[in-house]
Amino acid sequence: MDDTRQFRTIEGEGLDWDSLPMRLWSKGKKLGTWNPESIDFSQDVEDWREMSEMDREALMHVTAQFLGGEESVTEDLVPLIVAISDEGRLEEEMYLTSFLFEEAKHVEVFCRFFDEVVDEPGDLTRFHDDHYETIFHEALPSAMHRLRDDRSPEAQAEASATYNMIVEGVLAETGYHAYFEALQDAEVMPGLREVTRLLKQDESRHMAYGVHLLSRLVDEHGEPIWTGIDERMNTLLPHALGMIEHLFDSYETMPLGLDKDAFIDYATSQFQKRYERIRPTR
Ligand SMILES: [Fe+2]
Ligand SMILES: [Fe+2]
Repeated sequence: MDDTRQFRTIEGEGLDWDSLPMRLWSKGKKLGTWNPESIDFSQDVEDWREMSEMDREALMHVTAQFLGGEESVTEDLVPLIVAISDEGRLEEEMYLTSFLFEEAKHVEVFCRFFDEVVDEPGDLTRFHDDHYETIFHEALPSAMHRLRDDRSPEAQAEASATYNMIVEGVLAETGYHAYFEALQDAEVMPGLREVTRLLKQDESRHMAYGVHLLSRLVDEHGEPIWTGIDERMNTLLPHALGMIEHLFDSYETMPLGLDKDAFIDYATSQFQKRYERIRPTR
């Protein structure tokens, strides 16, 4: 028996209801419990049939990057949850249970899209380029799995900078924003549009948690942590932007009026906003 084991909630301390993780947990329970099985893809099946071959290929390209990314973040989040739990940060751990649940649903809903709308898409790895591999085969898993043996603030900062700031903050946020706008303007794929609307809400909570975690680490441990985050973000940003470049360079004309400059500008400005929020004020 472990006599040192304590339970905060029954020893008078309770939960910090006003903390950011508890507010995100509360929002997650209201907004993050939608069911991927309930999305209606029937009109999307019709719209898909009407699309040109090249439009289908480009839409599959973007969506395959989303699906691979969502599987990757679902697989790689667990070491961070364990690290946070071991520090006794109950509110953060409670919020992170909804975070992982949501990532799993994102995988499910894109799998449904490929199975039911695209139908026999073939091997989707044909859409994954070198930048994609650098981020999803190397940088993300190595930063997250480093936490299994190294729970230092530096390791936590590297993990969150990679996961929340680059993968979610640049790639997912930009991708879902542009994808949603394009589908809406073209008035096609209502099921996929609804999915994207829901994913944008979920991802905004995930990134808010990332900003909270990184700001807390910088507050607690100072300049060396910020330097590590700064280096990590700036090393990976060119790969994130490279993925966007590669996507557009693969097609003579992009479907649904997707615009490369709008993608790159949005990605860069969102990156800059979060960078400023984490950067220590002197
Ligand atoms: Fe996600
Ligand atoms: Fe996410």
